[in-house]
Amino acid sequence: MQDPLIGYFQSHRKLVEGDALDMIRGAPQPLDLSRKLIEMAGTDSPFVTRAMVESLLGPEAPTGVRVPTRLDQIPGAARPEAAPVAAPPPGFELLREGFEPLPADRDPLQAYGALFAHRFAALSRILRGRSGLPDLHPTSSLRTQEGELSIIGMVREIRTTSEKHHTILTVEDDTGTVEVLVPKGSPTVREPFLLDEVVGLRVRAARERNRISIVTGVLRPDVPTTREMHRTDFDARVLFVSDLHVGSRSFMGEAWGRLVDFLKGQGPDPAAAEAVRHVVIAGDLVDGIGIYPHQEDDLAILDIFEQYAELGRRLREIPSRIQVVAIPGNHDAVSPAEPQPALPLELAATLPSSVRVLGNPATFSLDGVVVTAYHGRAFDDLIPALPGASYARPTDVMKRMLAMRHLAPMYGGKTPLSPQSRDGLLIDPVPDIFVTGHAHTFGVDQYKGILLLNASTWQAETEYQRMRNISPVPARAALVRLTDLSLEVLDFSRAEVRAADEVAA
Ligand SMILES: [Fe+2]
Repeated sequence: MQDPLIGYFQSHRKLVEGDALDMIRGAPQPLDLSRKLIEMAGTDSPFVTRAMVESLLGPEAPTGVRVPTRLDQIPGAARPEAAPVAAPPPGFELLREGFEPLPADRDPLQAYGALFAHRFAALSRILRGRSGLPDLHPTSSLRTQEGELSIIGMVREIRTTSEKHHTILTVEDDTGTVEVLVPKGSPTVREPFLLDEVVGLRVRAARERNRISIVTGVLRPDVPTTREMHRTDFDARVLFVSDLHVGSRSFMGEAWGRLVDFLKGQGPDPAAAEAVRHVVIAGDLVDGIGIYPHQEDDLAILDIFEQYAELGRRLREIPSRIQVVAIPGNHDAVSPAEPQPALPLELAATLPSSVRVLGNPATFSLDGVVVTAYHGRAFDDLIPALPGASYARPTDVMKRMLAMRHLAPMYGGKTPLSPQSRDGLLIDPVPDIFVTGHAHTFGVDQYKGILLLNASTWQAETEYQRMRNISPVPARAALVRLTDLSLEVLDFSRAEVRAADEVAA
């Protein structure tokens, strides 16, 4: 695991000299000092130097006496000048970022081959660990077998027979491809298959020539029902929001002001606000430029840098004691191919130092509770492919993502996939909380003990959305207690802020 202090500076796009790092580690308040150094370096310098640390601490500062392994282990509450609270400083640990930089000289075709090989290897490893796939065989040997057995494959083609409307699947593993038949109305295979997902299949093999094997059962990688769940033993709360779309004419500035007032303890529940340690924003931080036809008609700020500067102003209104984690979405100024990188330095530098920018998707722990944040572009492919799925109920699709252990399996649709050699869209590790945005609605649900959130939007309905029949549910936020993952739903869309349903996960 990467040193969290180095990771903290990297997340703010800063490089730290070795001497400076030792001095920071030895300082009484390493995290506070790091924040000050990031502010000091500002946008001018990507470096944090020994001289900068000395200017804040004085040259007699201790060096290298203590190496915290996690930010939340950095002592602070026990120091005399610290507030007399039982809770430690907000803890953050990056567990996995999907994005990895692509080498410049890669052949894209080979790269996609490597990406799918990695996906298959990772998900078939999970499936092999499950009971329920007895007598596993490679697909290449299926034609020489007879009777009940199991295979694991990536779904490469799905078609329906013209007469009896059975489903014919072409599945592939690293030994080859094979066709299998799913009888229409099969009681054991109800969920529709999706292209490029990895599934385990129980089949009845027939050795006779021209006879196709029949699928009798399906097993998806899924999340294990018994696993370690993470909770805090002190009152720590996280506010989840998404899709701010700063720069849009439809950005809901007044509602945002009510959210800020709430976090400052000026809303209906000051005690709850006091316990907020983190805010997570699940992408579409700004509205962007040229994202859809005639978008300029919907924009209040036409310059992308100005949009991020305004985002910085809005985020500076949040009390600086609260750590903000922000991932990009399809409207942000990074590559749209997923996994997406974090905001580049020149844009991240306009944000306050309390904001940590990560790639999309990202998995991290907040005070020990594991969160996966994914913007949700894959809804655009998965919702049309799954009968009954809709933008009004994105959490249903999130359940399927967890069952597949993959956020965006389908290649060649609306979600561009980056040709990385490792599949950064796998869901691994399994989170305690899974948050998405993109649908501009609000949803809370749970799946096998995982809290599912679709975190609303701060953009009122636009003309473009009206045309596409999208009805947003804006200005909602989920306030989650990390002690038990129970939550309050806050509605900032009216002058009178309401704490809506309290839902236990
Ligand atoms: Fe959005």
